[in-house]
Amino acid sequence: MAPRPAAPPAAAAADARHHDPGVVLLLTGFSGSGKSTIARSVATRLVEAGTSVTLLDGDVVRRHLTAGLGFSPADRDTNVRRIGWVAAEVAHHGGLAICSPIAPHDAVRREVEDLVTARGGRFLLVHVATPLEECERRDRKGLYAAARRGEIPDFTGISAPYDVPEHPDLRLDTTGRPVDECVAEVLDLLDRPTESG
Ligand code: PPS
Repeated sequence: MAPRPAAPPAAAAADARHHDPGVVLLLTGFSGSGKSTIARSVATRLVEAGTSVTLLDGDVVRRHLTAGLGFSPADRDTNVRRIGWVAAEVAHHGGLAICSPIAPHDAVRREVEDLVTARGGRFLLVHVATPLEECERRDRKGLYAAARRGEIPDFTGISAPYDVPEHPDLRLDTTGRPVDECVAEVLDLLDRPTESG
């Protein structure tokens, strides 16, 4: 039998990449804090640089993966857990998943972190810490005004709680800052070596 030809260099590189730890980047913060804008811009920059990215953005996820869920505490937790599960799978296979739900509950963020690390991925938490007053001032979707009028129950920051992350990998207040500057901070975080080296 003829010997098998050696794997071409491109295949060898792909194989090495497969064993790199994948990454889940979770951006958490109030509605209107800038999570989605930053997530999309980071993804765009990485894709332009040739990195494959799975973007799990709040509104899109709720239209597909978690359609039918509302904003009760239990539904929010199911939403964030499902996002976390998909993201952990992406990371398990060496990919990068960027997720941007409000994810208001600390316990569920920790669950997602545990799931990601148990599947061999690296978990990075970014708190988009734009203050509520600024999010409400922006009110791009008019939801804060509606929540203040009592038309939207359980609105995060107004009538539903948000657990501020105590030790995020990065805390970003977007108030008065250009998007590019915030994006650069997140890209720096992704470039940082892991604590284990
Ligand atoms: S969660 O808590 O993580 O499950 O929320 P998420 O899936 O990210 O959805 C947040 C977006 O849904 C809109 N919305 C609400 N947000 C907060 N509270 C209530 N009650 C609510 N109802 C609808 C809102 O536009 C959020 O938008 P962004 O700006 O993407 O966070």
